Amino acid sequence: MTRHILVTGGGTGIGRAIAAAFAEQGETVVITGRREAVLKQAAGELGVEYAVCDHTSPDSLAALAERLPASLDVLVNNAGGNTDIGAAEPEGLAGTAAAWRRQFDTNLLTAVLTTELVSGRLAPGGAVVHVGSIAADKGNGSYGAAKAALASWNVGLARTLGARGITANVVSPGYVAETEFFGDIMTEEGHAARVAATAVGRPGEPADIAGTVLYLASPGARYLTGQTVNVNGGAWSSR
Ligand SMILES: NC(=O)c1ccc[n+]([C@@H]2O[C@H](COP(=O)([O-])OP(=O)(O)OC[C@H]3O[C@@H](n4cnc5c(N)ncnc54)[C@H](OP(=O)(O)O)[C@@H]3O)[C@@H](O)[C@H]2O)c1
Repeated sequence: MTRHILVTGGGTGIGRAIAAAFAEQGETVVITGRREAVLKQAAGELGVEYAVCDHTSPDSLAALAERLPASLDVLVNNAGGNTDIGAAEPEGLAGTAAAWRRQFDTNLLTAVLTTELVSGRLAPGGAVVHVGSIAADKGNGSYGAAKAALASWNVGLARTLGARGITANVVSPGYVAETEFFGDIMTEEGHAARVAATAVGRPGEPADIAGTVLYLASPGARYLTGQTVNVNGGAWSSR
């Protein structure tokens, strides 16, 4: 039976690869993001539906609710990114507060609000997967703190949803090239250092993350919940 999948931030990078992987399995997929042109092109190429939505905005999310199927099998909270990249140095306490709030809005509230929005329509046996980051473990200012908060919140979410047979997990990528994440700030040295930190000697690809998301949403992973799964080529180990 075809499942209904929502992938937030599915127009580019990791989210696009996740949407592509579900679509290749014959699932019905909706991708979201803030830029309609990007979504329209990706949706056309992948054969999926799209809806414009800012997942930090309750009003935008309320409009999205109208566009979603009555029942969802899988929610992938992928929308996010390091909002400090390309931003000016914050000035004073007010600037610091604004920068941290932007980071938490983008990487925690997006997932919390979207999950709240669709929780009632998640089907028994379904799955919620959030995209976290290696930054949560390695320490990376407000971005790492927001991704760590995402993983912490997920522990309780797994208990809440578990009563309905729904799993909730975080996939925590290391460095993944071929995304818009770093904008134009990635240098050759920065790339090489990140690759050198892995055990496998290569950067992550969006498809590496998609494969793990697919597994977490599969029948073989129904007893796997409340976890953070590191997908980083061995760059960081939790044991
Ligand atoms: N690339 C890496 O090395 C890496 C490593 C660890 C974790 N991650 C995480 O992986 C996830 C995907 O990032 P990526 O690497 O694939 O980078 P990306 O290409 O920049 O993808 C991020 C996507 O999220 C969307 N998005 C951001 N804020 C949004 C919002 N408020 N509402 C709706 N959509 C929003 C963006 O679309 P719009 O701009 O059009 O809204 C974009 O499509 C993020 O959560 C990121 O933190 C990435």
